[in-house]
Amino acid sequence: MAQASQTASCIDCEKTEASNVVIFGATGDLTKRKLLPSLLKMVKLGLLHADSRIIGVVRNRGDDWLAFVRQALQEFSPQAKDSALMERFHAMLCPVEGDLEDINTYTRLKEALLTHHERTNALFYCAIPPGWYSAVSHHLGAVGLMDEAQGYRRLVIEKPFGHDAASAEKLNRELWRVMQESQIYRIDHYLGKESVQNLFVFRFANSLLEPLWNRNYIDHVQITASETLGVEYRAPYYEKAGALRDMIQSHLMQVMTLVAMEPPAEYSATDIRDEKVKVLRAVRPVDINHVDEISLAAQYASGHTAEGEDLAAYCTEPGVAADSSTETFAAVKFYIDNWRWQGVPFVLWTGKRMKKRVSEVMIRFRQPPHNLFEEGTERPLPNALIFRLQPDEGMFLRMNAKLPGLTTRMQRLVMSAPYESKDGDMYDAYEILLHDVLLGEASLFSRADEVETSWKIVEPIIEAWSQRFSLPRYRAGSWDVPGMDRLLKDCISGWHIPS
Ligand code: BG6
Repeated sequence: MAQASQTASCIDCEKTEASNVVIFGATGDLTKRKLLPSLLKMVKLGLLHADSRIIGVVRNRGDDWLAFVRQALQEFSPQAKDSALMERFHAMLCPVEGDLEDINTYTRLKEALLTHHERTNALFYCAIPPGWYSAVSHHLGAVGLMDEAQGYRRLVIEKPFGHDAASAEKLNRELWRVMQESQIYRIDHYLGKESVQNLFVFRFANSLLEPLWNRNYIDHVQITASETLGVEYRAPYYEKAGALRDMIQSHLMQVMTLVAMEPPAEYSATDIRDEKVKVLRAVRPVDINHVDEISLAAQYASGHTAEGEDLAAYCTEPGVAADSSTETFAAVKFYIDNWRWQGVPFVLWTGKRMKKRVSEVMIRFRQPPHNLFEEGTERPLPNALIFRLQPDEGMFLRMNAKLPGLTTRMQRLVMSAPYESKDGDMYDAYEILLHDVLLGEASLFSRADEVETSWKIVEPIIEAWSQRFSLPRYRAGSWDVPGMDRLLKDCISGWHIPS
């Protein structure tokens, strides 16, 4: 979490050196929708040094890639209307042709790097299917491209990082053969969201909450990522992943560590990540024989949007097996066995094709111990602090207050604090994260032990779910997920459906 990246300014631009941003998977979907628009905005804001280059490793003719970039930006970037900016950006592009499995591609890439600058800083971005990670890193190492004698060399890897603990460990070992851990940036784009970083600042820049931030005052925590989108065009990946791997093992467990961690000794990548790992290591191991008591999986059936548009069932989506048992909704109740959180459930849930798109963290406080107010009136509702991560980023504190008039009856009061930037322009997660890689700032990236530990935590659930025969269904476009009330029966006020 670069302090600099939260307040991008010209000071930041001076800090980044000229670099070669090398994209593997330069014609892929991630490149088109996220990387290119982010890089263009970074050029606009001066967050990418003007002498930098953007190198696309492409199988086809380099000229085709240049046309692809122009078209992708026109489709996905509002900045593409600025023709002077587009010309500047295009002058930075440099295609290198070749197959990823061919060592000669990397030799050509090395030549392309060395002919441009004396110092050849490079950021290698793997926007490719995970099956390619080890081959690409192996080839980079084989031609000496991870050697930092002439400039930094950093490898950015997208999730999924492995599909279980063993594969994540194997991939780590393969990467370490050709590079140091400090050269690896495992991206979790949730950590790049400004509202997620604000969780960290909110906790550790305010003393007000600290006395309350523990098992004595907090009943439970719900961490939500509810999406309205379905599987879209991603069935080949999603069929093998499912909601638990896709969202909980990565994004939501990362958010959980930010909510639960102790203050780090210093604002440094090492200290912050040490504290996050401590949380993960304290998560109570899941007993494979009791997985149903702490988790829930479901799949969307057909339904319709609020506007009445028909939504197809998951198992009829293109590329999905008709008898698919992949979960599109997953919820897990974790316990963190340490002094601060003993006995406090952390319920993490995510679903595709839900009624509303909302990501948030809800901290539910305990009920007041004694009700002083009129017999027959409702009990005061437990307070809740909600961090809305997206959309409408902000914080909401739910309190009880007196209804005006000759009564001691209560009303619910919501204190809200929208989280927005002065110029109304929040940075996209990829802009923040790419800028951090250029600065060599690693706190927003997952370290090897974080990834391995989080896989170990969810493994018994994955194992138990792989043996199930059928999945409960929920109506697409609804909140009708059977079993959520049961899962949250011990949590005050139960399942918090985002409003
Ligand atoms: C990705 C998942 O990592 O995050 C997707 O693979 C999901 O399935 C996406 O849709 C959600 O990200 P965001 O930023 O839209 O909440």
